[in-house]
Amino acid sequence: MHALATQSSQDTIEKFQRYVIGNYRRYPVCIVQGEGSYVWDAEGRRFLDLFPGWGCNILGHCPPKVVQAIQDQVTNLIHVPNTWYTEAQGNFAEAICTRSFGKVFFANSGAEANEGAIKLARLHAGPGRYKVISFTSGFHGRTFGALSATAQPKYHEGLHPLVPGFQYAPFGDLEAVKQLADHETCAILLEPVQGEGGINIPTNEFLQGLRDLCNERGILLIFDEVQTCMGRTGHWFGYQHSGIQPDIFTLAKGVAAGVACGAFVCKDEIAPSLRPGMHASTFGGNPLAMAAGIATVETIEEEGLLENARLMGERFRMHFEAIRDELPIVADIRIRGMMVGMELTIPATPAVGKCMERGVLINATHDTVVRLLPPLNITAEQVDEGCEVLSEVLREMAHTK
Ligand SMILES: Cc1ncc(COP(=O)(O)O)c(C=O)c1O
Repeated sequence: MHALATQSSQDTIEKFQRYVIGNYRRYPVCIVQGEGSYVWDAEGRRFLDLFPGWGCNILGHCPPKVVQAIQDQVTNLIHVPNTWYTEAQGNFAEAICTRSFGKVFFANSGAEANEGAIKLARLHAGPGRYKVISFTSGFHGRTFGALSATAQPKYHEGLHPLVPGFQYAPFGDLEAVKQLADHETCAILLEPVQGEGGINIPTNEFLQGLRDLCNERGILLIFDEVQTCMGRTGHWFGYQHSGIQPDIFTLAKGVAAGVACGAFVCKDEIAPSLRPGMHASTFGGNPLAMAAGIATVETIEEEGLLENARLMGERFRMHFEAIRDELPIVADIRIRGMMVGMELTIPATPAVGKCMERGVLINATHDTVVRLLPPLNITAEQVDEGCEVLSEVLREMAHTK
């Protein structure tokens, strides 16, 4: 039994079966502790976590500076509503906007950040301009606005009618966007790298084409950076690879290293459209999340983690290319910093369980894509350790298919 466990994994699983709604498919493991890239279950088994917190734990588990910042904050103020000012919110807003642009609004999750961005776009465009164009295989969250923007029918089943005004174009198809855009379009919304959709990296020409189209027609360009933000791709924000700026971008997941936090940033001239009374979030910008966020930014900077994310991304590529040379089941390799994807010619889901049996946690998405979102501070040894297990598992899958 792990020192921190008070009951077995099985006892916990039984409580979930009795009391927790079963909407998540969970692996039969109860995690009790995490440190850096490793977690331990109740029985004391250690796992290398290459998908910590579904991308939220951008510095791995319990990064010391973030833990300290939360401990310091919690004794002074836990929550203060947005009818008052707090130092922490002002300082974190400065940290985000000086690394990007404009002004920020704080929320608590990715879906909530996207809801706010969509509302701002409609408010800014004015009456009659309400349509939003988004893209196939995109993912924007589970609340009704964000879900309506998510062009994946499997997530819509049984939930119609969705919010009106959302139109979908194939990802990467500029001509299709031009066909859809009309005088009622207020925004184009996309991820600068699609995450859940399988680590799909658009060309800079496509993004530049969208920027030009938006400029010509007075449409707002919104980037959903929920997964790409906070150094995930090797720059602070995903748009910084492309040579263009969106008008609005949304953040969540890693923004406070695992503490619930979401946000959107907009250009200064757009901000006044979010008039007092038109939008709010009770917990948004709370001191605990803000303190964690500031410590996250400081850690990334002090430890040179943008650079490390780029270097470790290339190390994954080296390993993945070796696997591709050996195994014909590897169809494609898509990597940007610590967004790491390998598309297979066969279903990827079995790799998750097989890696877990060997002590490595990974993810599979869009049926055939192995997805890793390792922390920015992963070491070369940990990359090598994970890739050795993954290659062993893929070899086994290639030979038994
Ligand atoms: C790009 C993107 N947008 C939005 C979301 C939704 O975020 P949340 O689950 O915090 O609402 C996700 C979650 O995976 C995401 O990857």
